[in-house]
Amino acid sequence: MVIVMTPEATSDNIDSIVDLVATAGGEAYVTRGVSRTIIGLVGDVQQFETLDLNALPGVADVLRISAPYKLVSRENHVSRSVVSVAGVPIGGDHMTLIAGPCAVETPEQTLAAALMAKAAGASLLRGGAYKPRTSPYAFQGLGETGLKILSDVRAETGLPIVTEVVDAADVELVASYADMLQIGTRNMQNFALLQAAGEAGRPVMLKRGMSSTIEEWLMAAEYIAQRGNLDIVLCERGIRTFEKATRNTLDISAVPVAQRLSHLPVIVDPSHSGGKRDLVLPLSRAAIAVGADGIIVDVHPEPETALCDGPQALVGADLDELARVVATLPAMLGRTLA
Ligand code: E4P
Ligand code: PEP
Repeated sequence: MVIVMTPEATSDNIDSIVDLVATAGGEAYVTRGVSRTIIGLVGDVQQFETLDLNALPGVADVLRISAPYKLVSRENHVSRSVVSVAGVPIGGDHMTLIAGPCAVETPEQTLAAALMAKAAGASLLRGGAYKPRTSPYAFQGLGETGLKILSDVRAETGLPIVTEVVDAADVELVASYADMLQIGTRNMQNFALLQAAGEAGRPVMLKRGMSSTIEEWLMAAEYIAQRGNLDIVLCERGIRTFEKATRNTLDISAVPVAQRLSHLPVIVDPSHSGGKRDLVLPLSRAAIAVGADGIIVDVHPEPETALCDGPQALVGADLDELARVVATLPAMLGRTLA
């Protein structure tokens, strides 16, 4: 931590900061410039944060040098992590395709979507049994019935399941079926849910809040990690901007930024960001090219009848093209399709 003093700061102001830091168990190193003095602090940053340094006389600014998140930070964990989901790797030299229906609707629809996903090269099946919907009148998901359908489809296809949990009270139940828990954009800062997911004994995919900064996203991941679970995958799924042509704006730069700041794998959801079928393939290519560790894509056998997000679901020739993209593009970047 570095304290920048105002040009008017007196020697007394500086000395009292040095004393205060010493009482907090730290050390303060004073560097006197021509017009400004800066004080470098060494010690426990959390302890310094209780001192209200910004409010002291003569202080212009207090700058944090180390990241406020620790367990998910790359500062303390230089090599990038690989998260295993029932044996399927996400991260490292792999590029993982997760695909499936937005919502589990029927056994037939889920199986058909899973087979489409598998044919396209997916090694993990997505599908929501608990749907976080804007409208209370919209389809909310089948709940445990949906989890059972996913479990049957896993048995039939061999694809491990990624599914969303929206309530801390449901974590144990969802974890008893799921291979990976998904925490959606709307719940990124549901701290009780994050903590419960951290204790569930399953890898967690944490989507970025639609109006969250990358730092807030990493702090949310820290909640999961703090409960003893470091098997976390970050998912960029588009953020709210002024642009209305897309459902959300895919923040493609968030991928390398998050990968630089955190050791956790980072994947992209081109379906929920673009919100339109014709954007999914271009955004998938962009995600793979920028170095995403995976993509999660909505597919549906009959998108026009889908109970949730039909307009963004891939079907038919688009899936053939997805298969071609994941079979060729990762290899050009030194990655293998997981
Ligand atoms: C799907 O996965 C989400 O539940 C969906 O995108 C929510 O959006 P909506 O309820 O606004 O349609
Ligand atoms: C989803 O993937 O099913 C979902 C609800 O996505 P998001 O949280 O990104 O809106």
